[in-house]
Amino acid sequence: MLAAVPSPVTVRVPGKINLHLAVGDVRDDGFHELVTVFHAVSLFDEVTVTASESPGIEVLGDSAAEVPADGTNLAWRAVELLGRHVEHDTDVRVVLRKGIPVAGGMAGGSADAAGTLVALAALWKLDLTRDELAVLAADLGSDVTFALHGGTALGTGRGERIVPVLARHPQHWVIALHRQGLSTPTVFGELDRLRAASSDPTPVRAVEPVLEALAGGDPRQLALSLGNDLQAAAVSLAPDLRRTLRAGVSAGALAGLVSGSGPSCAFLCDSADSAVEVAAELAGAGVCRTVRVAHGPVPGARVVDENEPP
Ligand code: C5P
Repeated sequence: MLAAVPSPVTVRVPGKINLHLAVGDVRDDGFHELVTVFHAVSLFDEVTVTASESPGIEVLGDSAAEVPADGTNLAWRAVELLGRHVEHDTDVRVVLRKGIPVAGGMAGGSADAAGTLVALAALWKLDLTRDELAVLAADLGSDVTFALHGGTALGTGRGERIVPVLARHPQHWVIALHRQGLSTPTVFGELDRLRAASSDPTPVRAVEPVLEALAGGDPRQLALSLGNDLQAAAVSLAPDLRRTLRAGVSAGALAGLVSGSGPSCAFLCDSADSAVEVAAELAGAGVCRTVRVAHGPVPGARVVDENEPP
């Protein structure tokens, strides 16, 4: 009797912004010690895995051309890592539908890797716990664990140690996408350069105010506590981000900040309606490639149930 061919599995996985990102010293392994608050927002990639005799990766969406469709893609590294871990052959085709900005500081590549782990675990009917997946995720990249997890979470270490954070209310965001991406290692390197060139000691950014604001749920309070140490480095490499950040606040956002290593900027708004208005005004201001409205927190990588309404 022929073995049944498993049906393809699709996973939806969100992008993230960092509501707080405090960058500490460089460690011996080259990574920086971080204290960060991750927040998953409603810009999603979809990862579909299919058992196939022509294994490989395919990327769909507006910015597909900017994403490598070969063995260097983090999603393919996830296939190989999980295959080795459970001793399963890697005869799979991975299709990535990109909705998360590419090289935007929103962990799109990490999301694809997390989505691939969850999709393959279902395709191969693996009995893996979320904790086991999290260990594999941390091996792939600093942000991959959070992409599995989603919601709002405190990240420490190089970002891979995750603890959920109480976030009482949904928050509304406008995301401004920049014309060109920034490379994460370059932005960390620029921060090191700026710090080495400055005679002032680096002030430590406290995480408590943002945790309190999230617990309270008031976006105005949250707006006062947002902060990102990588912002100065991203702005130094892409100085026109200053105009983008100013324009979002002039358009009515409560606050704006560079997301992660940038160059996407996230603007916090006090309601869903206000986010739509801010997005429209920002889109007309000519300070970014395009804008998206999003809300958070949303769950991490989840298998899409084909019977569920979208
Ligand atoms: O872990 P991930 O592959 O996402 O990191 C990409 C790059 O960003 C690293 O190679 C490193 O240059 C930088 N990085 C860092 N410290 C962190 C996370 C990332 O220096 N905590």
